[in-house]
Amino acid sequence: MSLDDEKRLAAEAAAELVESGMTLGLGTGSTVAHLLPAVARRGLTELRCVATSPATEAQARALGITVEPFDALTRLDLAIDGTDEVTPDGWLIKGGGGAHLREKIVAAAADRFVVIADSTKPVPQFTWPVPLELFAFGLASTLARLGDDVALRPDTPPSPDGGLIADYRGPGLDDPAALAARLESDPGVAAQGLFPPSLVSDLFVARGAEVEHTRFS
Ligand code: A5P
Repeated sequence: MSLDDEKRLAAEAAAELVESGMTLGLGTGSTVAHLLPAVARRGLTELRCVATSPATEAQARALGITVEPFDALTRLDLAIDGTDEVTPDGWLIKGGGGAHLREKIVAAAADRFVVIADSTKPVPQFTWPVPLELFAFGLASTLARLGDDVALRPDTPPSPDGGLIADYRGPGLDDPAALAARLESDPGVAAQGLFPPSLVSDLFVARGAEVEHTRFS
């Protein structure tokens, strides 16, 4: 079974949680790319969806899923998204695709935030860099404050909200709460890619043909 098959199986399992009439947040990435057809195939009615990236929005619309701007809805019943890494206690690193600002806003608005993953995503400890989105205003001063541990991601366009995507490669990954607080304390950081366990309700991890479901809250 390939990793892509695992992504599809995890996505299909999570798609079963979606019900007619729900408000639904759609994440971003190659795992979510399998979620969208699985949701479309359910043939549900009166779904109201918001998307965390233009790519997800375009794919959803092409599949006949109605997507609306995220300005009028005050909450979402459910949001489903992938992750770059997940630790045993439910911390995530997200933003490999640079969509973590919108992904975090959507996750925070959801009553239930469901993470879908192939078998490479669970890790004992984080190894990825932490993606950042930096405000364009004052960018050089923000980068100077953040120091040598932060670099703009090469060949990466600004986010749909005008922020610049960067990555933090430095110490502190063994204490994600402290690192998240430190990165967020800089006023030039619009979003950082560490998602706390308090945001995560469910995790679906596919290992071969089996899908493990962990319910956190
Ligand atoms: C997008 O910015 C990311 O947060 C993705 O959700 C994350 O990188 C997972 O992507 P894949 O499903 O492609 O691994």
